[in-house]
Amino acid sequence: MSAGDVVIEIRDLVKRFGNQTVLDGLNMDVRQGEIVVVMGGSGCGKSTTLRHMIGALTPDEGSVRVLGQDLASLDEAGMNEVRKQFGILFQSGALFNSMTVSDNVALVLEEHTQLDGSIIDMMVKIKLELVDLREAADKYPSQISGGMKKRAGLARALALDPKILFYDEPSAGLDPVTSAAIDRLMIDLTKKLGVASVVVTHEMDSAFTIADRMVMLHRGRVLMNGTRDAFERLRDWPQDQLGELDTTQLLIRQFLRGDAEGPMADAGPGEQAYADDLLGVDHSKLTGGRSVQTTRVVPHMDKPGLFRRLFKRSGAKTS
Ligand SMILES: Nc1ncnc2c1ncn2[C@@H]1O[C@H](COP(=O)(O)OP(=O)(O)OP(=O)(O)O)[C@@H](O)[C@H]1O
Ligand SMILES: [Mg+2]
Repeated sequence: MSAGDVVIEIRDLVKRFGNQTVLDGLNMDVRQGEIVVVMGGSGCGKSTTLRHMIGALTPDEGSVRVLGQDLASLDEAGMNEVRKQFGILFQSGALFNSMTVSDNVALVLEEHTQLDGSIIDMMVKIKLELVDLREAADKYPSQISGGMKKRAGLARALALDPKILFYDEPSAGLDPVTSAAIDRLMIDLTKKLGVASVVVTHEMDSAFTIADRMVMLHRGRVLMNGTRDAFERLRDWPQDQLGELDTTQLLIRQFLRGDAEGPMADAGPGEQAYADDLLGVDHSKLTGGRSVQTTRVVPHMDKPGLFRRLFKRSGAKTS
């Protein structure tokens, strides 16, 4: 495997829970050496997509190939071999509270390798050094901050020298400074170790800092897949030229900017639901604060052609 090789390939992935179709023909790739950020409104299928990538769910239709293997065709032993090449950073860091930071990292190596104790000790030190946590090696999770817990979880995720790192909401619950430090660490590790990273996040600042590529999901499909530049251009699309964007593009722009005031004009009931859905607005949970306004701001004109050409230049696709 070398930089640019496809390490995850998802084709026409369909997943249903009961009669709800959660993933509805999803296509995306992840390449070695890149950070791909997966985003979209609440319930659009981000975590479900991630869970297919790590083999925790099996597709109803379509395929998920990871490191060249079709996950659905693997037996338990084969799946475990592939899983050893993942590092997963859970939301809380998911450390064992009764063990020190270094023992938490060592545990993975003890479980999955036949290495000597002294070699494991050395490897643990290397992993902790990578996340700048050597000084906390002998502390218990309860004695360290949230950001340090994340880094400890990351050291553990790195224990087996993974080829792919998965992060679900890495900045959740962190203050902006700590969150920025974790962003920096994710970039450093991805570039230093040459791995691929898949990050699910709601934090737009973080997304735009770390992403090489961004994938925006909506109702279990890819709404837009493009470089960070392409998404940035859409986010910063001038207010006085919004007429050049179609409804979908306007909504993506609104999502990226986290604007409460939407540019959606003349939204009928169907479009309102579409907007709420895309932006993750749940009216039953709103208490009168934030809401998506649908007042007329600009006339809506559909010019996907222009937009497509623009994104083609930067290697992006809309669908
Ligand atoms: N195991 C499951 N059984 C039934 N329904 C599920 C299951 N997992 C997810 N869903 C449903 O699938 C939809 C997508 O869920 P998913 O967790 O992938 O969303 P998400 O994009 O990660 O949302 P969030 O941003 O809130 O984390 C939701 O409607 C959810 O209720
Ligand atoms: Mg989720």
